Amino acid sequence: MQVVVWDLPLRLFHWLLALCVTGALVTVSLGGNWMVWHERFGLAVLGLLTFRLVWGLVGGTYARFSNFFPTPSRVSCYLRGQWYELGHNPLGAFSVFAMLALFSFQALTGLITNDDVAFYGPLTRLVSSEVGALVSGWHRSTEELIYVVIGLHILAIVIYRLRGKKLVGAMLHGRKESEQALKPDPHSGGALALSIALIIAIGMVWLAWGSWIPAPPPAPAVPAW
Ligand code: HEM
Ligand code: HEM
Repeated sequence: MQVVVWDLPLRLFHWLLALCVTGALVTVSLGGNWMVWHERFGLAVLGLLTFRLVWGLVGGTYARFSNFFPTPSRVSCYLRGQWYELGHNPLGAFSVFAMLALFSFQALTGLITNDDVAFYGPLTRLVSSEVGALVSGWHRSTEELIYVVIGLHILAIVIYRLRGKKLVGAMLHGRKESEQALKPDPHSGGALALSIALIIAIGMVWLAWGSWIPAPPPAPAVPAW
């Protein structure tokens, strides 16, 4: 029987995240005027990750973190070849949490990243220049790690495919084939959960945008003499 494993909000989250992370990386490498778009893609990543965090608590059955958190017993069950659940497997779950943490770190540090000349993250004014410089260094230094993590993610999907497991289709249409209904009644998150997740994500982007920060007082006028 066919079971809906990845609900529509989770699938949209995934492909929009892939688009926005790629967009942030391409625009930062183009530099110049494209940095405006780098910040927009980065803020979109932050909104998407906030949505995913809430959806992991109140979303559909297979989207919930509690459903795939890699506990020692789940990992040993998987390693012994006795794992029959349909969602992320316990080893895949490590990479899911690592990716979510890495992109969250990157999007949050971006908010106060600056080059002290032309590009300033929207919350830079809230921190001292020392803290800004330190965090900017962190934001820049993760570039290679991000390429490695995305490369490993795609490599893992290809390896699963070579071993006969087609994962990509399920991330497109949401369904997986199950011989028996292991969770016979998987539920989708529902309209209320979706509204809560969207409202919190939009609120996070608004906070990160920084338009609520009062403008700095104008510089004192210089006497004409
Ligand atoms: C920048 C590019 C990408 C990023 C940042 C990314 C990120 C992620 C994340 C965070 C998840 C976990 C989903 C969740 O929250 O539960 C995931 C799962 C998944 N991704 Fe990607 N992804 C990218 C590109 C791709 C591409 C190009 C493909 C297909 C070729 C792909 C296929 C999948 C599949 C099939 C899963 C589910 C794995 C499973 O069944 O356990 N991803 N991805
Ligand atoms: C997941 C999302 C993000 C990724 C993957 C990312 C990636 C990067 C990378 C790799 C650099 C270094 C470029 C270089 O040194 O040549 C960079 C610089 C920068 N990022 Fe991001 N970033 C993200 C989110 C953000 C956000 C949310 C903001 C602010 C809203 C931001 C603002 C900046 C700024 C201002 C710089 C320029 C720093 C400089 O030139 O020294 N980034 N970003």
